[in-house]
Amino acid sequence: MTDPHPRSTVPNARRASLDAGAVMTLEQFIIDQQHRFPHSTGSFSRLIRDISVAAKIINRDVRRAGLVDIFGDSGQINVQGEVQKKLDALAHAEMERALRRGGECVLIGSEEHAEAIPLQTSSESGRYIVLMDPLDGSSNIEVNVSIGTIFSVYRLPEGQAEATLDAALQPGTQQVAAGYVVYGSSTMLVYTTGDGVNGFTLDPSIGEFILSHPNIRTPRQGRIYSVNVGNYRSFDAGLRAYLEWVQEEDPATNRPFTLRYIGSFVSDFHRNLLKGGIYIYPANTRDPEGKLRLMYEANPMAFIVEQAGGRATDGTRRILSKRPEALHQRTPVFIGSEEMVRRVESFLHPSSAR
Ligand code: AHG
Ligand code: MN
Ligand code: MN
Repeated sequence: MTDPHPRSTVPNARRASLDAGAVMTLEQFIIDQQHRFPHSTGSFSRLIRDISVAAKIINRDVRRAGLVDIFGDSGQINVQGEVQKKLDALAHAEMERALRRGGECVLIGSEEHAEAIPLQTSSESGRYIVLMDPLDGSSNIEVNVSIGTIFSVYRLPEGQAEATLDAALQPGTQQVAAGYVVYGSSTMLVYTTGDGVNGFTLDPSIGEFILSHPNIRTPRQGRIYSVNVGNYRSFDAGLRAYLEWVQEEDPATNRPFTLRYIGSFVSDFHRNLLKGGIYIYPANTRDPEGKLRLMYEANPMAFIVEQAGGRATDGTRRILSKRPEALHQRTPVFIGSEEMVRRVESFLHPSSAR
């Protein structure tokens, strides 16, 4: 009999690094995946590798962030030969540099740039568009709390010679890959290409991402809810009713649920993905369209959560089906364990069965 509420399939990460024979590096994993597509040119594999290299450099900068002021006082120049910039800008620069050097990416859209950035590429490659939030959770940088990087990959549409912003404004269903890096108590890279979700933990002693969380499945039902309840009074009545409901005592449904809110979407999402939970950033009076960005926050995470068996909506529509109109467009987000997202939807639309 299949378990209706399977637990997340998180293996013991340590076991992988202890048993040398079982270690699978991200590099090896990418090569193995590529062999499954006989006509693959390796371009996509190189793109993922480029992103992972940028992730390692950002990780190094993040790990040194607390020391920047100490070194900065002496006018210290970093290894790139620049004065250390704010981490958001630095993370963007590292991603852009890696994608430029790699030659597989024709257009970048970034939270840190108002306009999309076209890149020069060689004729054979350069068919990919990368949208990104280089540093997510900026308010947590200075207080030593987990932050992340989010990326979303599209193909330049066939027949489109020039990479303009229009080429990037595709619905999330068209993503060919999406992923995030979380700089937490360890550094992990989690990504999907539409064939399940795999997580890799950075082993700092060898500088490699090691497959530690193969085929991640998120629990259908969890008991963590993540929402900035400081905005409670500006939420609509349905959401307020849901937030009352989660606090009620009911052993049969494991309530009250437990509140966890880090304020870094990547970190809140990652925990909920593994443990089961729901992350909510709704529209409110200050942010009538919500706060999170559709193209480089909501879409990539929606792709990942669906691939892991979860659900993502804006309260009414599936996130991945939304037609984007602008690079920096915002959307309300309800994302996580399938049963939890369905439950909150039933509060938002009381006419449907609860
Ligand atoms: P960013 O740091 O990329 O601007 O994103 C911040 C986002 C997201 O990471 C987080 O979940 C949310 O803002 C927190 O917003 P509130 O402080 O309004 O709760
Ligand atoms: Mn962000
Ligand atoms: Mn950001």
